[in-house]
Amino acid sequence: MKLSQTESSMLAGKEGRATQKCMEILVALGEIYGADRLIPVSSAQVSGVSYKNLGDAGIEFLDELAVDGRARVKSTLNPAGMDLSSWKEQRINEEFARKQLEVIGAYTRLGLEPACTCTPYLAGNLPAFSEHIAWSESSAVVYANSVLGARTNREGGPSALAASLTGRTPYYGYHLDEGRTPTLRVEVSALLESPEDFSAMGYYVGKVARNGVPYFRGVESAGLEDLKTLSAALASSGGVAMFHMEGITPEANMAPKQSMDSLSFDSGDLRNARETLSDSGQPDFIAVGCPHCSLTELATIAQRLKGRTLKRELWVCCSRAVKELADKTGYSRTIEASGARLACDTCMVVAPIESMGFTVVATNSAKACHYLRNNGLRVRFLPLEKCLEEAM
Ligand code: F3S
Repeated sequence: MKLSQTESSMLAGKEGRATQKCMEILVALGEIYGADRLIPVSSAQVSGVSYKNLGDAGIEFLDELAVDGRARVKSTLNPAGMDLSSWKEQRINEEFARKQLEVIGAYTRLGLEPACTCTPYLAGNLPAFSEHIAWSESSAVVYANSVLGARTNREGGPSALAASLTGRTPYYGYHLDEGRTPTLRVEVSALLESPEDFSAMGYYVGKVARNGVPYFRGVESAGLEDLKTLSAALASSGGVAMFHMEGITPEANMAPKQSMDSLSFDSGDLRNARETLSDSGQPDFIAVGCPHCSLTELATIAQRLKGRTLKRELWVCCSRAVKELADKTGYSRTIEASGARLACDTCMVVAPIESMGFTVVATNSAKACHYLRNNGLRVRFLPLEKCLEEAM
């Protein structure tokens, strides 16, 4: 790889040990993927924040970097394993909480913002069209590439952190025009009536597309909440990092018209997709907000819960930034008056809910179903309205 003078001196350790280590990671990655150089990034988004996934080895790695490392670009964190202020109310055990706060402390010393969200684009980390970034939360990667038109590979936690601490990333994959070319045409004839329908479709298509770039045709309209949950589902059943949607996403019309494999998605496929996402059993825990809720979603939930008292545990996951807006509009008060928990900084997948005695989780997200099953829980995939009914 060809490195600039500044990059070479970073690699030689002239800007400190942490920068050198990060450069080593980026150069190794660039060589593996055939990049000829590094490019500047305008932001980073770093996963690997929950102590549940990081463990003590992760804390040690972060502490080492924090001796002389510092973020060079705007950098935000993915969700942690608990609400950073209301963890006691969430019944998180003290030892876990202490370790989680150590993780956040190390990242903060490194200069990363503890936004702790998988929707950084709703919380102040919003890249512009064609900007190069290094993000690692898979749902946010798909959303950034596809909906915002920014450019990022599916970074791992360490490579996104390395990009944050050097301001660079290897130039390959989704940073290049050719990496963004569609590979699978998806002809949609199913009627998509809710974000959950988009989520189920994403889960179905992700399995076929794997790490390709789906090009959806036939979708009449799609809002932010639809595209956010579609992005999450595509990235969980498959390794998708980008999609196009004719007439809707910004690069769909620029995509070269080449011959590609095709797939149809009709109402029967939608029904099957929904069914494969559900197990049997009465839910004892209900969680919505995967990816983290927008203010619009909180408004809908508040309207539905107004004046009601819940019988089962309900977590409404969102970023602290969006919760602050909901505090001002009164949605938070209405939601919490029902007994529901606004779970900030965390989510149903990265918090240790499986060790809290819950067995069956109802959720409106295909991605959450996928990972909760991996965590040993049974799941029910239900529309938002039905999730709230289960809680009531
Ligand atoms: Fe976000 Fe957790 Fe879902 S990180 S995308 S809410 S699994």
